[in-house]
Amino acid sequence: MMALEEILLHATREHWSTGHFNASESDHMRAICEAAKEAGTPAIIGTSEGEAKHLGYDIAASIRDGLRKEFQIPIFLNADHHKSVEAAKAAIDAGYDSIHIDLSALPFEENVAGVNEVIEYARRKESGISVEGELGYLRGDSKIQKEKIEVKAEDYTNPDEAKKFVALTGVNRLAIAVGNIHGISLDEPALDVERIRAIREAVPEEVALVLHAGSGIPDEQIKAAIEAGIANIHINTDIRVAFVNELRKTIGEHLDEVAMYKLDASAAGAMKEVIIGKLKLFGASNKV
Ligand code: G3H
Ligand code: ZN
Repeated sequence: MMALEEILLHATREHWSTGHFNASESDHMRAICEAAKEAGTPAIIGTSEGEAKHLGYDIAASIRDGLRKEFQIPIFLNADHHKSVEAAKAAIDAGYDSIHIDLSALPFEENVAGVNEVIEYARRKESGISVEGELGYLRGDSKIQKEKIEVKAEDYTNPDEAKKFVALTGVNRLAIAVGNIHGISLDEPALDVERIRAIREAVPEEVALVLHAGSGIPDEQIKAAIEAGIANIHINTDIRVAFVNELRKTIGEHLDEVAMYKLDASAAGAMKEVIIGKLKLFGASNKV
């Protein structure tokens, strides 16, 4: 199987982006793999700390193994936004392929120290675990926002700091804040594409740039971000909305049905369709 780093380097050089999609149920994991298989691209499944606890770390890793056997495509399991070294280590112990250690709320030096502890632990355990760090202040969470969230220029990732951070840690991927907001925001987000370009120029090509909070960003801005150097885009709210809206509708139409697997099948289908659309938008089709 091609390593995640190799795939990301191709994406950076060829100006397309891989898609990272969150899951809290085995159905979601399957929908992500079905979409990736259909698009002909690697599947990257993310579980936040909350999603991972709901699924169970070991169970998430076992489901991934089963999906690999069934789908025969590269499938990576990422510990998304793990906000403590302990949580990241739990994911490494369970056999996750990738860790996003998000200590962006801490001062720079503490962020660097925590990321390095995770990298050392990952390298001691097993080779090949990809590690993502985060710099900048990324606001919001993965839901439909009811209030306006103001993004300030000082929240953005600073290119010089990014360069320093990457050199001091050796992360494989860097999550950046460039006007993106987690969740679907009330007003249209405005990505600072020039800032993405500046960060791309400041850090080595081997370090992939990650755009979180991909839901609710207009297609044209997504395309411009990829052109400027983004190689991995995270989507959660858009697929949560697709799944839950369809589930609500189906339950409403079949009030006597109590077999959950019958009720949630079309919800998983709706999620899959949104993922396929995103993968096409990212230019990720036909890569495996
Ligand atoms: O890490 C997860 C993503 O950044 C999801 O963000 O809910 O705005 O798509 P989103
Ligand atoms: Zn995120």
